[in-house]
Amino acid sequence: MNVYDAERMSEALQAHGMAESGESDGETADVLILNTCHIREKAAEKLYHEVGRISARAREDGRKPVIAVTGCVAQAEGAEIIRRAKAVDLVVGPQAYHRLPELLARQSAGETGLVDLDMPISPKFDVLPARRKRGPSAFLTVQEGCDKFCAFCVVPYTRGGEASRPLDAILAEARQLVEGGVREITLLGQNVNAWADGNKGFGQMVEAIAALPGVDRIRYTTSHPRDVTEAMIRAHADIPQLMPYLHLPVQSGSDRVLAAMNRKHDRDFYFGLIDRFRAARPDLAITSDFIVGFPGETEADFADTLSLVERVGYAQAFSFKYSPRLGTPAAERTDQIDEDVKSERLHRLQTLLQEQSLAFNRQSVGSSCDILIERRGRHAGQWIGKSPWLQSVVVTDPSLSVGDLVRVELVSAGPNSLEGHLLTMKTAA
Ligand code: 5AD
Ligand code: SF4
Repeated sequence: MNVYDAERMSEALQAHGMAESGESDGETADVLILNTCHIREKAAEKLYHEVGRISARAREDGRKPVIAVTGCVAQAEGAEIIRRAKAVDLVVGPQAYHRLPELLARQSAGETGLVDLDMPISPKFDVLPARRKRGPSAFLTVQEGCDKFCAFCVVPYTRGGEASRPLDAILAEARQLVEGGVREITLLGQNVNAWADGNKGFGQMVEAIAALPGVDRIRYTTSHPRDVTEAMIRAHADIPQLMPYLHLPVQSGSDRVLAAMNRKHDRDFYFGLIDRFRAARPDLAITSDFIVGFPGETEADFADTLSLVERVGYAQAFSFKYSPRLGTPAAERTDQIDEDVKSERLHRLQTLLQEQSLAFNRQSVGSSCDILIERRGRHAGQWIGKSPWLQSVVVTDPSLSVGDLVRVELVSAGPNSLEGHLLTMKTAA
């Protein structure tokens, strides 16, 4: 979502006569925007480290760039950021970045200490300029915010409550993307499957997007188990453009921990969903997020997480050590787990998940599938694309280009990517 937000901010500023510096690190840029994540402590620490590094380098070069901090750290820490990092000029929360051009203008007119953390009723997307995205794959935000209040999570506080964009606005943006050459759309939301517009739910939205000419592939992330509907499961059986991939975070395999996390589901409920999705689409790649070392997690609780992983069999997963976030209920608990215990559990979980990723990729070897070519590889004539199951596939063929959707045979597999041999050129972009 931050990648998407950064693109939209860039587009908004380009509409006001600014241009991207094109530099990897903004060495000579007049304005630097640090778009931040607040989900774990490390992410917030990075901000202060980066501001220090950027301002030291600018001082050496005799420059004073404008530094803006946007995103969820901005929302959570507000004016405190300017107090702690004097080089920062602007602090703008994730619901206010459509006002960036105006705030930058005010800053250059001499105003200081500008902080905009408003969460306005009128959606920011309506006032942002049209998408100009080029390239075969693009994100599209359809829903923002979350009302679930998992005990560990800052999202409901930083991104605000659940809000869906209207279907018309989503379809209009999807059309713009397709006109710009996009063939694959990834629908984004903190709780994407909670999306609703009147009596239409997530399944109907996917159906409407699939009906647009030129949309070859649809993906979505992230889903919550509690918001899964029959229509969403059916979509995986009925809509060929919907890729066989499901990111369904479970966080823990222990019912005791799930209850303490306020996840509003238990492990049996989760297994039931997985079985229904697999019945609808047997080849579905299933992925998840896990937190180890939530306050009070015992070795027996952690063993339940390992056994859940064994039972589901994941194609891929993200796993994290629990990180206490100020203002969330779990951070107040007195039964925090030792860092060493968290590290050791994370290592065991990641070893198992890695084995499963490798097994998942290996079972694809020998089969053929369509690959959407996204970028060049490291060597001459080498291209990297995505399989329907979101695996990275390397194909070597000088005739290819970005945006091609081609049929390949998968010939070998590692934990992070596969190699494919071109079978036929399917359709050119
Ligand atoms: N500590 C560790 N991981 C967290 N996540 C969210 N909050 C925390 C936290 N306080 C993880 C969850 C979520 C993912 C995006 O980040 O697994 O699904
Ligand atoms: Fe955070 Fe996801 Fe829980 Fe919402 S559902 S509170 S975004 S972890």
